Amino acid sequence: MARILITAALPYANGYIHLGHCAGAYVPADLYARYARLRGHEVLFLCGSDEHGAPITIAAEQEGVSPRELVERYHQANADAFARLGMSFDYYGRTTDPLHYEFAQRFFLALLHKGYLEARQEEQFYDPEANIFLPDRYVEGICPNCGYEAARGDQCERCGAYYNQLELRQPRSRITGKPPVVRRTQHWYFLLSRFQALLEEYVASRSSTWKENVLQQTWSWLRQGLSDRPITRDLEWGVPVPLPEARGKVLYVWFEALLGYISIAQRWAFERGEPELWRLWWTDPQTRYIAFIGKDNIVFHTLMFPAMLMAHGGYVLPENVPANEFLNLEGQKFSKSRHWSIDVRDFLADFPEEHAVDALRYTLAANLPETRDADFTWHDFAARTNNELVAAFGNFVHRTLQFLYRYWDGRIPEVPAELSQQWHRLAEAVWQGEGLQWGEGWHTEERAFVEALLSYPVQIASLYERFRFREAIAETMALVRLANKFFNDMAPWRTVVEAPELCARTLFICAQAVAAFAILFAPVIPLAARRLSSLLRLPASVGDPGEAGAGDRWSRAGRPLLGSGHCVEEPRLLFAKFPEQRIELQRQKLYALASSAAAPSQTEDAYATVEDLQRLGLRVGRIVAAEAIVGTQKLLRLEIDLGSEQRQVVAGLAQHYRPEELIGQKVIVATRLKPVVIRGVESQGMLLAAMAADGSPVLVAPIAEVPAGAHVR
Ligand code: MF3
Ligand code: ZN
Repeated sequence: MARILITAALPYANGYIHLGHCAGAYVPADLYARYARLRGHEVLFLCGSDEHGAPITIAAEQEGVSPRELVERYHQANADAFARLGMSFDYYGRTTDPLHYEFAQRFFLALLHKGYLEARQEEQFYDPEANIFLPDRYVEGICPNCGYEAARGDQCERCGAYYNQLELRQPRSRITGKPPVVRRTQHWYFLLSRFQALLEEYVASRSSTWKENVLQQTWSWLRQGLSDRPITRDLEWGVPVPLPEARGKVLYVWFEALLGYISIAQRWAFERGEPELWRLWWTDPQTRYIAFIGKDNIVFHTLMFPAMLMAHGGYVLPENVPANEFLNLEGQKFSKSRHWSIDVRDFLADFPEEHAVDALRYTLAANLPETRDADFTWHDFAARTNNELVAAFGNFVHRTLQFLYRYWDGRIPEVPAELSQQWHRLAEAVWQGEGLQWGEGWHTEERAFVEALLSYPVQIASLYERFRFREAIAETMALVRLANKFFNDMAPWRTVVEAPELCARTLFICAQAVAAFAILFAPVIPLAARRLSSLLRLPASVGDPGEAGAGDRWSRAGRPLLGSGHCVEEPRLLFAKFPEQRIELQRQKLYALASSAAAPSQTEDAYATVEDLQRLGLRVGRIVAAEAIVGTQKLLRLEIDLGSEQRQVVAGLAQHYRPEELIGQKVIVATRLKPVVIRGVESQGMLLAAMAADGSPVLVAPIAEVPAGAHVR
């Protein structure tokens, strides 16, 4: 048994948690925490809100509230959403906790006394009217590299150049709009460069177990050479720098947020009435520490945080930092400003039923962006629920329990004692990694299926241990398919009359499979697993925080846990399908919200000009011929009369218009686009269409009579 400390990146309390966040760090962390608890490990799983930094102050300004009000709102909302999503945190803390302030300040002073911090003078922009130094996100100016006019702080959004903020031309404060002045200020630098060699050694020692994406980014930083980093800022909102000469300065958000992982353990210990208990977790070398994050946080966790911990001394370093890539939504990046998102709280409001939480967890887990970006679609959510959870898993459970009810009064049938005994011996052998010695009396199908029941839990465990959750879930579902196949092949509905003893064995084995699933599915769909345990009248064990001391329950999966004569409950459905209309409604809602948010952006640069419009060569055209393009489902070939000439256009309209209803219609054509060949047919223009709420195209037409060829301006 090991002691495993698990953290998940502390989300900024500046917005609601969405599905992208969940797939990046929180679902994998929870899968691992529940799995580890089921293995009988001692687990402390921590998370909490990151409540300082420019992301908070900027969001507060935008919403017209104080930073404190903002973080209060989102901290509560996110803690609540996580709880309802079944995140099994031992504690969900926050970085505005007074314990956190104290700890971060003490840590800063410890590093200062050890000589790992150094005060340096530097010049920075200062807004004399607002009376503050301007952090990078608060200044705008002309990019020194490409001339882009709305370049921010230290990086140009257009050309990607990095520079010192003082290099911006014609800088202006984003608070008052006025040009800032340059002032000297003092900041404390963390001497990260001193840890170059130690960090290289540290990362090299972990190389065999870290993920490819994590190693790549980390080594690329190490190869460039680490530079010292300022860890203080001239700001009001944050943890004050604990030095008399540092009035008006706070600790840089990343520096203190990372320490939140430790201060949240302190808060957890304090609330338990054992305030020193956190030390065991953070300072005992026996602790295995795993930090779950999304890919944008990698080097902070593989370099910065380890260096901070090394500098202080006495703390355990991350053993692994399993970072995921990003999840997209219906093919596009999640975006708060474009309203392209599914927030957990909205999902829960629209899908209040308990099984929806499991369906969501399952869909995300089966499709985690572990090695590359992945995509969440509503269609996939429905398909996975309906085909996998309902039609495969739910069905196997239901048909087994129903059969037990119909023919055995809900009791596990009698089988020869030798069968169970052998089965237990085989299970021992599997977990010892030994070959299986099959005794007499097994039918071929029984042998094959029982062997799968015993070997899959071992195999799935090894996937969990290597952070390959997607495959772990796929294998779990593969075992469900084998179970259904076994049921079908054994045809108990036939043997129940023809060979009752064989039928009893079949149902005995199927019942054990159901019991195995109550354990194997617990990390991913804990709510359903709990209901399943209660249907089986087994003690529920789903990897929740309170379950310490229950031993290795995982390795019991696949053994005969239900003795002959044990009585189970009358089956109730674990899941229900989501009807197509309900899913379609969600898609429409997503697209409708996104298009209503697509207002033009404020910067000068984003306005189109009259010339831009004219360049498209918009003209009125009359459709004179239309036909489906053979071998495609979506494409129509249209001939369009433009007065002076006729053009051929390929359009993706076949699913929305019949060719004959288009002939004779007037439409608007963009005539100056470069011709393209689509499915072997040249397309010499494009038709304008408006997007309906469900994303389908509606052709745009003039609303009074105009001749074909008329210009559109
Ligand atoms: N708040 C950061 C983000 O959402 C993550 C911080 S992780 C921490 O990207 F450990 F530093 F808190
Ligand atoms: Zn630029």
